[in-house]
Amino acid sequence: MQKKLIELQNQAKDDLAKAKSPDEIERVRTKYLGRKGVINEIIKAIPSLRPEQRSTIGKLANKLKQEISKWIEETREKFVVEERVPGAEEMFDLSLPGKHKPYGHKHPITQTIDEIKGIFSKLGFDIEYGPEVELEYYNFDALNIPPDHPSREDFDTFYLDNKLLLRSQTSTVQIRVMKEKKPPIRMIAPGKVFRPDTVDACHASMFHQIEGLMVDKGVSFSDLKFILTFFSKAYFGQDIKMRFRPSFFPFTEPSAEVDISCSICRGKGCSVCAYSGWVEVLGAGMVDPNVFEAVGYDAEKYAGFAFGLGVERLAMLRYGIDDIRLFFENDMRFLSQF
Ligand code: PHE
Repeated sequence: MQKKLIELQNQAKDDLAKAKSPDEIERVRTKYLGRKGVINEIIKAIPSLRPEQRSTIGKLANKLKQEISKWIEETREKFVVEERVPGAEEMFDLSLPGKHKPYGHKHPITQTIDEIKGIFSKLGFDIEYGPEVELEYYNFDALNIPPDHPSREDFDTFYLDNKLLLRSQTSTVQIRVMKEKKPPIRMIAPGKVFRPDTVDACHASMFHQIEGLMVDKGVSFSDLKFILTFFSKAYFGQDIKMRFRPSFFPFTEPSAEVDISCSICRGKGCSVCAYSGWVEVLGAGMVDPNVFEAVGYDAEKYAGFAFGLGVERLAMLRYGIDDIRLFFENDMRFLSQF
């Protein structure tokens, strides 16, 4: 009997190996495992065996039954795989949810520049651009900062060969525009500037400025005040206050530094404004006659004002950001908040 079981085992294997379709596998299954199949016949015959043989044969028969079931399953799986349409794995399944592609958006600095451009466009200012790699002449000489003059140090920068440098202020664009166009001029110039400052929460070696320039007959300091007040209220809100402090810039006379009431604490005093209630946002003044001379304008006929504001500073005040480095680290956790 034991020998017969081993024979059956081999035979079942052979039969399955020969099976060429799911139907043929089914036939093998009925032959061995069906109600009237070979294995059941053996099990039925057990009671007629000698008592000492019954349990051994019973166990072997059951084991064989399990084995054959397993082989049948395996053979079936083989057919399932083969039955699939070739390339079916790559087929497009319309019912699957789409792959999520996050939308990109503008960097907060670009957004701020765009917003400021919008405000000044309403006031009739053109948008001008100048090169970041600049001649020493435009960054210094033409702006009334002669060679070896100590005020060069305030606008120190990175020097390249041959009187070339990275501009340290967008005031360069004032000169470029005035050399090309006749008054009246009303323009702003956004762009990157570079300074060899030690990087910390308030300083970066590259940041953005927006330069402003208006030249015409009879332009006065009160025009400057009006334009800057209009801008501050448009950008920070109607309740913002401004103050002008006397200051010095080589290319403007008189010059002023302009503070706004702290937009974080609304003037009450906080760490951003060093508990003074005020923060400096820009430099400004009336265009110095020496600058007009450098560009060939008649200083007796024309007057003008200029200002330069720091874009990062404005964005930090608007959003309550306390570290300028966050803008340049490309950390999506920060950038995606804008
Ligand atoms: N260029 C000056 C700066 O970088 C700002 C400024 C511009 C001041 C125009 C007066 C007039 O600090």
